Amino acid sequence: MYTKDTERSLATLAKSLLSGKTPGSPEETAASLRQVIRHSDWRYYIQDDPVLSDQEYDQLFSQLKKLEETHPELVSADSPTQRVAQGLTKVFPTVQHLVPMLSLENSYDADDLIDWDRKAREISGLAEIEYCIEPKFDGASISLIYENDLLARGATRGDGVQGDEITTNIRQIRSIPLSAKFSDYGIQQIELRGEVLINKTTFAKLNEQRAAENLPPLANPRNAASGSLRIVDPKEVAKRGLEAFLYNMSYHTMNDGIAEPPAIQTHSNTLAMLWQLGFRSPAREMKVVKGIQAVIDHCLDFETKRDDLPYEIDGMVIKVNDYELQDRMGMTTHHPRWAIAFKFKARQATSILRDVEFQVGRTGSITPVGKIDPVPIGGVIVGSLSLFNEDVIKEKDLRLGDRVLVERAGDVIPYIVKSIADLRTGEEKDIVFPKNCPVCKDPLFKPEGESVWRCVNINCEAQVVERMIHFVSKDAMDIRSLGESNVRKFWSLSLLKDVPGIYTLDFEAISKLEGFGPKSISNLQSAIETSRSQPLHRLIFGLGIRYVGETTAKTLANSTEHLLKLADYTEEQLLALEDIGPKVAGSVRQFFLNQDNIHMLQKLEELGLNLKGNTGSRSAEGTLSGQTFLFTGTLHKLKRSDAEAMVEQQGGKILSGVSSKLNYLIVGDDAGSKLEKAKKINTVKILSEDEFINMVQ
Ligand code: IVH
Repeated sequence: MYTKDTERSLATLAKSLLSGKTPGSPEETAASLRQVIRHSDWRYYIQDDPVLSDQEYDQLFSQLKKLEETHPELVSADSPTQRVAQGLTKVFPTVQHLVPMLSLENSYDADDLIDWDRKAREISGLAEIEYCIEPKFDGASISLIYENDLLARGATRGDGVQGDEITTNIRQIRSIPLSAKFSDYGIQQIELRGEVLINKTTFAKLNEQRAAENLPPLANPRNAASGSLRIVDPKEVAKRGLEAFLYNMSYHTMNDGIAEPPAIQTHSNTLAMLWQLGFRSPAREMKVVKGIQAVIDHCLDFETKRDDLPYEIDGMVIKVNDYELQDRMGMTTHHPRWAIAFKFKARQATSILRDVEFQVGRTGSITPVGKIDPVPIGGVIVGSLSLFNEDVIKEKDLRLGDRVLVERAGDVIPYIVKSIADLRTGEEKDIVFPKNCPVCKDPLFKPEGESVWRCVNINCEAQVVERMIHFVSKDAMDIRSLGESNVRKFWSLSLLKDVPGIYTLDFEAISKLEGFGPKSISNLQSAIETSRSQPLHRLIFGLGIRYVGETTAKTLANSTEHLLKLADYTEEQLLALEDIGPKVAGSVRQFFLNQDNIHMLQKLEELGLNLKGNTGSRSAEGTLSGQTFLFTGTLHKLKRSDAEAMVEQQGGKILSGVSSKLNYLIVGDDAGSKLEKAKKINTVKILSEDEFINMVQ
């Protein structure tokens, strides 16, 4: 795509544009800005190896936007500014694919592949066939049409003959070029097939965000990707972090009088051409081999590496490499004869849904939990799984006694894909969602627009126990020896009934319990003692106020000199704080309006806990202000949480992952992928633990 020389000259160009120099006419400046931005997109989204920091990128992008605003005649359809769409897509029109999007025949073991190869050799008359093997991406299938080098249309697979036109949403995917020099190969029009994915990390983050907004989690990355393609607001699509692999050329026409170049005579050459044109094709992941035994070996080997990939794959696809031979082999009505999918071992199984229990969470949310006959799925026995909420049960039409299909994809928690309605006997029973809390029996309540039922009795025993478990947890008050099981045990023995009770535990009674010798009692006592002086943000987080995560807890702690003063804050005052929106502000207000909560806080203060805030003490102007840090691997001299606190006390910020926004990565023993990734970003400084200590001291 780019030679080293081109990359060097683009770097120089970027530098001069960033320093405010313009190469000449507005037209030349716009062209230079686009070149630099496209290159940066390619390095970031395709190579995973950024060359510009986020600020630098934003600066160049807004420079281009301003220039196009003053010179609208300079805007081109493939300008990077044209990805961002205005308004909503009202309907996705139905469009015809240039050629039907067939699916693939499946194979499950070596024998299936040997059979398929035998047929292929019979049809072709060849003794040995050259195959190209690539991953089978588990996402949503798309088709793209480029005409005269410009992206002209993007569509979903639909029924294979017709799909939905989703061009605007496709333009939000940064790894899909808006233009590509197909004309260099003589190609006038081309239809490409590919798969849109959400990688595992992005998926996990998406679900964290949804949990914070009280939305039900997305079941798996595949559904998340296909759902994202149909969002009507393209700006929301852009936020989903979609990626795309383009893996097949299904149709093409050449410019007049031009013969097909070698680049489009074999499948592997086409993948290489796409890569060279700036697409993310599986050119790096593909393998070309001769004969079926080499195919089998490679597929089995790749299966063992499946979990190391950043995205989900559910098998391999084997394609006859030579296009001329592909044409000779042809297709059935369903699938081409020249390709086959090799499916990895199922991470699905069927079982019977026996029962549903309703669990009460710390904020009163009621989660239905399905109990199934235990089945092994991908090496783990699954007997119990979340059914998320009532809407999910209705949508999937789940009934007690149903045979259900259960999936456990990669890092995703197991879930029920569907019930198998065909196998119903008539004995199945509806799942009745309770009207009252299963623990305190108070009526349940479902706020408008939400899908989760709640018990709003904050004294509900189930919530009290869950809140105590949260209060003592590692990121809250960090009372290690008082984990979940001890909280439950002390609760059931009436030794502990609420959060303040943690500080008045009857150690004499506890010492009579089995498993509580003098050593564990003294550990417990000292952990509780230490927690009294935890900084206020930990206490706030530990209170488990709805929507108040660690970051919001820090904001609140930094905004007040005493926790009880927050009780007097109006909604407006809360909204004025950084990153606090109406939902959080409303929830904080509600917490402090409840007198039981005020009494609990007063009691905690009497018991010696620190309720003093950080106003004034924490300087945003500290020595590390504006700098970002991340720790990886095992530290020896410092506890990770203490090291992070040191950074924050001096005005620095902790990031959750390696990106070009990161300034320092502190590396302990056995550092893994974060270190590897950071090494690729020139702007990240890598420090040892000792170097970090010197720096903060
Ligand atoms: S080739 C005519 N290659 O798997 C054959 N498909 O189960 C075109 N898929 O509908 C498909 N990775 O959505 C091909 N490397 C890959 C693929 C792939 C995933 C999907 C595709 C197809 C489905 C068939």
